[in-house]
Amino acid sequence: VTSAKLAVIPGDGIGPEVTAEALKVLEVASPAGIKFEQTRYDLGAERYLATGEVLPESTLEEIRAHDAILLGAVGGKPNDPNLPPGILERGLLLKLRFELDHYVNLRPSKIFPGVVSPLGEHILKGAEVDFVVVREGTEGPYTGNGGALRVGTPAEVATEVSVNTAYGVERVIRDAFARAERRTRKKLTLVHKTNVLVNAGSVWWRLFEAVAAEHPDVTTDYMHIDAAMIHMTTDPARFDVIVTDNLFGDIITDLAAAITGGIGLAASGNVNPDRTAPSMFEPVHGSAPDIAGQQKADPTAAILSASLLLDHLGHPEAAAAIETAVLADLSARTPGQARRTSEVGDAIAARVAG
Ligand code: NAD
Ligand code: IPM
Ligand code: MN
Repeated sequence: VTSAKLAVIPGDGIGPEVTAEALKVLEVASPAGIKFEQTRYDLGAERYLATGEVLPESTLEEIRAHDAILLGAVGGKPNDPNLPPGILERGLLLKLRFELDHYVNLRPSKIFPGVVSPLGEHILKGAEVDFVVVREGTEGPYTGNGGALRVGTPAEVATEVSVNTAYGVERVIRDAFARAERRTRKKLTLVHKTNVLVNAGSVWWRLFEAVAAEHPDVTTDYMHIDAAMIHMTTDPARFDVIVTDNLFGDIITDLAAAITGGIGLAASGNVNPDRTAPSMFEPVHGSAPDIAGQQKADPTAAILSASLLLDHLGHPEAAAAIETAVLADLSARTPGQARRTSEVGDAIAARVAG
């Protein structure tokens, strides 16, 4: 029996609820001969409010020694006076992405059979929607580069500087081309705003063109972010792989989730393709304070994130078994009939178990 070391960070709000279901399914899906040794890390709002700790250095180093990380969601209630915005998001989630060099934030988007898209058949016309967003994960406006002057005065000035290094942009573009090459349609769209963000846009465009020259079999395309949002809502089937910066990718993938059946289905992987540190798998959604603690959250996104985790660790069959079980569960859902979080997890786990 080989064992894989899994760090589990359930986090806040619905995070622990959906993570419990993902672990339930992971347990039954794990291939014979592989045992997940779980270490649970109670990081998040509760820990911060009790101790002031967000992610102690020693904990980060412990997490680094794992094979993969499964995360639920982090973030407290909006406008909690004890929890300033960004403390957990920056100090925990982004810290992990940056420190563990998760430069590929992989966010697949598919309209699964049986799932009702808000776009409707008059827009989709039977076309298959199956694309993946390769969101840069370690740079852009997320680096915390900027500052505020004369805060609270009429002369206040606040800046958030987007950092785009040739090294960082090239490596994510290379990854996106490699992914496009492995897909049937072999199409890659760069999404940016080169007409306004001319400095960042220029490095993205130049490196995209340069790497494209090495991949003549990949069809390339460019769209400004605003126009891309038109195409995503009027003709999402045109996308295959999208590569974009950290902030555009964040926004695009919430829209992508909404058009493919809702945020409760959207899974993601924060991948370190060079495997110099563990990759981290998590639903695209957040801690959803509005429905937390009520067993109302859909755990499907967390369960599909566990499938991405298995695939990353070299167990594609176990990963596919989860996806098959999720597909069957989705087809069996009755619109308007709500199930408890644990009921959905039980149903999917039972299907995986056969
Ligand atoms: P959110 O994704 O938590 O919620 C947006 C809406 O989607 C809410 O109405 C929520 O009820 C609903 N929703 C989310 N997940 C759902 C699920 N599984 N099933 C059913 N409905 C679901 O986004 P938000 O409200 O903007 O953010 C809340 C907190 O989460 C903030 O503190 C934010 O910073 C944090 N956040 C964390 C992550 C993460 O940990 N990766 C991602 C996004 C937001
Ligand atoms: C996401 C979230 C995070 C992001 C926040 C919570 C830092 O919205 O994972 O999509 O912006 O990346
Ligand atoms: Mn987001």
